[in-house]
Amino acid sequence: MPELASRQHVRDICGVVEAALEKGESTMEELGAVAVTQGPGLVGSLLVGVSFAKSFAWARGIPVVPVHHLAGHIESLVLAHGELPLPSAVLVVSGGHTSLFFITEPGVYRLIGRTRDDAAGEAYDKVAKLLGLGYPGGPVIDRLARQGNDRAFDFPTAKLTHADRNAPLATADGILPPDVARRVDFSFSGLKTAVLRLVRERTGAGPEGRAASADGAGASLPPSEIADICASFQRVVVDVLLDRTFEAARWLGARSIGISGGVSANSHLRAEAEARSARAGIPVFVPPLSLSTDNAAMIGAAAFRRLARKGAGDWSFNAEASLPL
Ligand code: KG4
Ligand code: ZN
Repeated sequence: MPELASRQHVRDICGVVEAALEKGESTMEELGAVAVTQGPGLVGSLLVGVSFAKSFAWARGIPVVPVHHLAGHIESLVLAHGELPLPSAVLVVSGGHTSLFFITEPGVYRLIGRTRDDAAGEAYDKVAKLLGLGYPGGPVIDRLARQGNDRAFDFPTAKLTHADRNAPLATADGILPPDVARRVDFSFSGLKTAVLRLVRERTGAGPEGRAASADGAGASLPPSEIADICASFQRVVVDVLLDRTFEAARWLGARSIGISGGVSANSHLRAEAEARSARAGIPVFVPPLSLSTDNAAMIGAAAFRRLARKGAGDWSFNAEASLPL
């Protein structure tokens, strides 16, 4: 409900800034700049942040620095670990994005792969909703999957073969062979549909289902079966994410891999990434849990980088619902 979210931002923003200053043991007078998320996201909420940040910075006589949300997720890795060994392949995997970047120079991010449909976090959230597990879906599926059999169900891995889905990102041309560029794109809507079909079969609704809405359709399944679905679903998501990231890293001659964004909090993803890192002999960096899901520190880190590279810029920027990085 975008309007309610915007109104909540108006109510909370002063208190949040005061609490942040207090927790950070600083005062308004000590601030050198204000960082703010410019986009992408819900534009009403972004507008509250942008308007507040500009007013605050103007009143204090300090610069305001617009930040791309995904730059924040990428820089959360640097905030936690220092500069990554470059070149690096960085996967940002969140509720709104599943995007793979190639970084050869600090602060310059080249998009080489992205999801053609749902983001990985979105798939977690939709499957959780289907199983009646609430929102956000990632943490609860992560927890239930530990009790389940990840081979109980054989969900499909998306293959991007249909002709009109075949064009790889233009930016990937030249740095990856076309067949590899195609393979480093992601797709999760087919997996989500496979889970829906299974749930409908298991609950006796038939493969196409009778219910108008799938929300909560799987809630009546036995807990052990819900855990098996979670584990099997999660195995496919994590395999797809890591297969493609490691393959891209290998082709690009990357010296490190980074994985950030809300889904990087996932315990199976972290464990599997570590195991593959050891096998492939390439270091993998993930943020600490406190910097995995959305947070303000990473926006500050990205602003710090931008200030150092380009200076503050002007005041004319606006909130943007969609914004290329
Ligand atoms: O980056 P983020 O906090 O917000 C966006 O930018 O979207 O990511 C939120 C997403 C949600 O879809 C949530 O279900 C997922 O991250 N998430 C997880 C876990 N914790 C959060 N997904 C899998 N396992 C987790 N432990
Ligand atoms: Zn995020």
